[in-house]
Amino acid sequence: MAFTYFFRDMDTLRAIERHVIPQLKGRRYISVWDAGCAMGPEPYSLAIIFRENMGPFLFRNLKIYASDIDGSRRFGDTIAQGMYPYESVKRIPADLLARYFSPVENRPEHFRIDAELMRAISYQRHDLLSLKFIRSGFGLIVCKNVLLHLKPEQRVDVIDMFHSALASGGFLAFEQTQDLPAENASLFERVTADAQLFQRPDAQGWANRSRKPRVPGLGAGCTK
Ligand SMILES: C[S@@+](CC[C@H](N)C(=O)[O-])C[C@H]1O[C@@H](n2cnc3c(N)ncnc32)[C@H](O)[C@@H]1O
Repeated sequence: MAFTYFFRDMDTLRAIERHVIPQLKGRRYISVWDAGCAMGPEPYSLAIIFRENMGPFLFRNLKIYASDIDGSRRFGDTIAQGMYPYESVKRIPADLLARYFSPVENRPEHFRIDAELMRAISYQRHDLLSLKFIRSGFGLIVCKNVLLHLKPEQRVDVIDMFHSALASGGFLAFEQTQDLPAENASLFERVTADAQLFQRPDAQGWANRSRKPRVPGLGAGCTK
């Protein structure tokens, strides 16, 4: 269930780079939710993509809230240590590996991620099926290779909850094979044909939508 690796699904990362970061990078606060983040390669890959497209000053405005139901209860420690074996980092483009990772002393074939990126990420345990969002006003929510494990009606409710957690104009990204269910379709606009990337319309656009979400999504659903 927790299979993951760095720079999984380059098409979606490129779509985020092309369509999302240019819209978010000027904001004073940029918050991203990586829901179902496993042991960290995905939120760290997002952090690298943002850092590559922002200077160090603007990058300080970015906070990535990574969460997972985490049956092993080990993801928090792994993400906090930011240390990964070669097997896990080998798909990272060589220039990015050299720029953002250092070999760990006394630990052959292990690499530690740069402190600047680690500071951008915080982690908490959270069950998406609680249908409670961890906070609101997100500019981007990434939920990849998670919804496929849920029942169709659970998927619809979780996406309604994501809608409530997004800021107006915020983005939602799934993996390439996860399309937006028809029940949620009126809540979002597709951003590109190259990825499963959707945008919550701004307040004016929203006023014309035909369906409101069923999930109010208030409160904190995290399990620490
Ligand atoms: C296949 S991994 C995907 C990891 C990463 N998103 C990626 O695409 O590489 C699926 C993750 O979803 C998490 N997960 C499954 N059900 C969940 C739920 N109800 N709430 C939160 N996380 C869940 C699992 O613990 C696992 O870490």
